[in-house]
Amino acid sequence: MTGNESLAVVGAGVMGTGIAALASGSGVPVVLVDIDAAALERAEQAIPRHIRMGQLHGKLSRTIAAAPVRYTTALSAVGDADVVIEAIVEATEAKAKVYAELSAVVRPTAVLVTNTSGIPVDELAQHVQRPERVVGAHFMNPAYMIRTVEVIRGPRTAQDALDRLIALLGALDDEAIVVNDGPGFVVNRILQRMINESARIVSEGLASAADVDRLFKGCLGHATGPLATADLIGLDNVVDSLRVLHERTGDSGYEPCDLLTGLVAQGAFGRKTGRGFFTY
Ligand code: NAI
Repeated sequence: MTGNESLAVVGAGVMGTGIAALASGSGVPVVLVDIDAAALERAEQAIPRHIRMGQLHGKLSRTIAAAPVRYTTALSAVGDADVVIEAIVEATEAKAKVYAELSAVVRPTAVLVTNTSGIPVDELAQHVQRPERVVGAHFMNPAYMIRTVEVIRGPRTAQDALDRLIALLGALDDEAIVVNDGPGFVVNRILQRMINESARIVSEGLASAADVDRLFKGCLGHATGPLATADLIGLDNVVDSLRVLHERTGDSGYEPCDLLTGLVAQGAFGRKTGRGFFTY
């Protein structure tokens, strides 16, 4: 991405806010779109904090001035963007609808980037006029702290669309690892199953949530255990992602277990609501 290209992010939840903070903190101006004005207000409060946090941890440069973020509920605002990153809820129908809408308003050359956790890129590409412009970028949470991105090349993705995404990630000082398309790609095909199995272990009484996580940290050297990771992702999103994987693979290992669906039914989504497997 050159200094002249412009970026839009659609969806101002956990991920969209983090990606916008990464862009702004890297000196790249961004338009942030959400259908929910309250989500945009929360993002506006959070982004300066995220940038400070990124700088404090040495993940964002203190010498780069934060670039402007424009907050809007008008999807048409993406019409000037060269790269559009979609980060709305992990619901197939909602994404299908937003891709059809985006396709009608973006420039013909714009690159449409999905931050989906696991819906195959090619499935989303079927809803746009130019499927070769669609590519995946699975940012981790928080996007301004974890600086490696799983990039997904769909079977129809054009090389120049992929190249432009990689150039953008370069401008953000992120490392891109390119993989091919499939439900859950690489990270979530493994991670979501691990979270589901960990939750099953807790519900069977084999170990407490804290001890499952201690084993992964102490024995395997993981920085965070699977259940704290689930709380960070958001248990609502974990259940949605497991359903995406289960529907597309038929593999019962991905069927969200009762403990997970029960926590979500109680509104215990993890860090974002103050309670999940752990209390915050
Ligand atoms: P979230 O629930 O925090 O935010 C989603 C946002 O999308 C909400 O603010 C909602 O108002 C907005 N939205 C819904 N429909 C919209 C539309 N038609 N137009 C504009 N905005 C719309 O979700 P989160 O966690 O930020 O996830 C977003 C995407 O990123 C999902 O596909 C998720 O699977 C993926 N993801 C999530 C990660 C995580 O750790 N939470 C990590 C990597 C990817």
